[in-house]
Amino acid sequence: MKSHFVIAFIALAYVAFLFKVGYFFPLPKEKEEVIDASAVRQEALRRGLRPIPKRWNEARKLVDTSKNPLSFQKIALGRRLYFDPILSKDQTINCASCHILEAGGDDNRPTAVGYHNQQNPKHLNSPTVLNAALAVRQFWDGRSPDVEDQAKGPITAPFEMAMTSQEVVERLRKDKSYIKAFAEVFPKEGITFDSVTKAIGAYERTLLTRGAYDRFLEGDDDAISDKAKRGLSLFMQLGCKGCHSGITVGGQSIQTFPLRPYDTPIVPHSVYRNGKRYFKEFSFASLFHESPYPFPDIGGFHGRNGQFRFRVPILRNVTRTAPYFHNGSVNKIEEAVRIMARHQLGIDLSKNQIESIVAFLKTLEGDPVGYKIE
Ligand code: HEC
Ligand code: HEC
Repeated sequence: MKSHFVIAFIALAYVAFLFKVGYFFPLPKEKEEVIDASAVRQEALRRGLRPIPKRWNEARKLVDTSKNPLSFQKIALGRRLYFDPILSKDQTINCASCHILEAGGDDNRPTAVGYHNQQNPKHLNSPTVLNAALAVRQFWDGRSPDVEDQAKGPITAPFEMAMTSQEVVERLRKDKSYIKAFAEVFPKEGITFDSVTKAIGAYERTLLTRGAYDRFLEGDDDAISDKAKRGLSLFMQLGCKGCHSGITVGGQSIQTFPLRPYDTPIVPHSVYRNGKRYFKEFSFASLFHESPYPFPDIGGFHGRNGQFRFRVPILRNVTRTAPYFHNGSVNKIEEAVRIMARHQLGIDLSKNQIESIVAFLKTLEGDPVGYKIE
């Protein structure tokens, strides 16, 4: 009888050994490699990371569209509408209530608060409006194709601006200066719900931001610190860039999150040291976790068609848009980065690696360029 216990004990110890095998082999120490600015830049450009253009004639090539051709007057009309509470039922809320241009393009609240202080029913966090025009789709689940179509959403949502499309048109048609402005910009259509959202979309297309990161990509080695260069290098090597890609560092695809789901009981994890991955452990955390996310499931939003698919967020200005994730339940950017590495890539980052990536993310901050538009 006793021998059974001994055998069971040995078997258990063996299984424990297998799962924690990473701990039995000492990991190599992290080396602070000397970072070669031009090598990092070349890698970034090769992988399709791009600076936002300095001048309007270059930027225009990226944002102009035959569906809504840009003109100086249309952009000016859109700007006026963006800031005008006339588009909300009780005339107290404008687009900038939730997308403050000087605060990273969002509201820094966990969830949006609209008409009569109503919270977003799915507890969704306001994403940044800055650079959003360059994303391939709009909204957390990517259900809208572009900024013109997107603008119809908040105006008519009962918990945001609480209008109907008819009310918008009737109200604007009572305002002489709007009648005049629309007649100039949309001589055929005049004031329609469509032309309202086209004008707003045109303005949003100019809201591109530039910062230290753009200057670095353009050739200024000293625009960002060595730590940030290391962070950028990690961002590319680990695979963050696989999803957070392109000129907007995100916004270009729809991806699953969490990719290593909690309902799979055994999830392998590794650590990343000096350019290599080392196996660490299988994790059983999933068995004891109630939320499908590595944070509370406030609002119960499960992405596109409830399939945990999300439009990848734009990381430009991300260090100014806390709190994080679709339901705004994570306050610290360091924690957001830790979660991403563990649950999208299966890697446990060291504190130092997280700090480097955050230093890089900080270089993505920038104010709207303020293009001279003719
Ligand atoms: C009450 C707060 C609120 C107001 C007012 C508001 N928004 Fe939003 N905005 C949000 C929230 C929340 C989301 C995300 C909703 C979702 O994904 O379903 C969002 C999403 C967006 C997006 C998508 C960004 C992306 O990367 O997917 C854009 C663009 C945008 N809003 C522009 C506007 C414009 C233009 C207006 C004015 C017409 C406006 N918003 C008014 C809260 C607001
Ligand atoms: C497989 C695709 C994928 C990979 C790889 C990935 N991400 Fe993400 N990332 C996402 C998705 C999807 C979300 C949105 C999830 C949500 O809000 O529910 C997100 C959200 C984020 C956020 C929060 C953004 C916000 O505005 O709330 C940050 C920061 C972030 N990722 C950074 C990183 C970093 C750093 C890495 C590499 C360590 C990384 N991501 C790897 C897809 C990915």
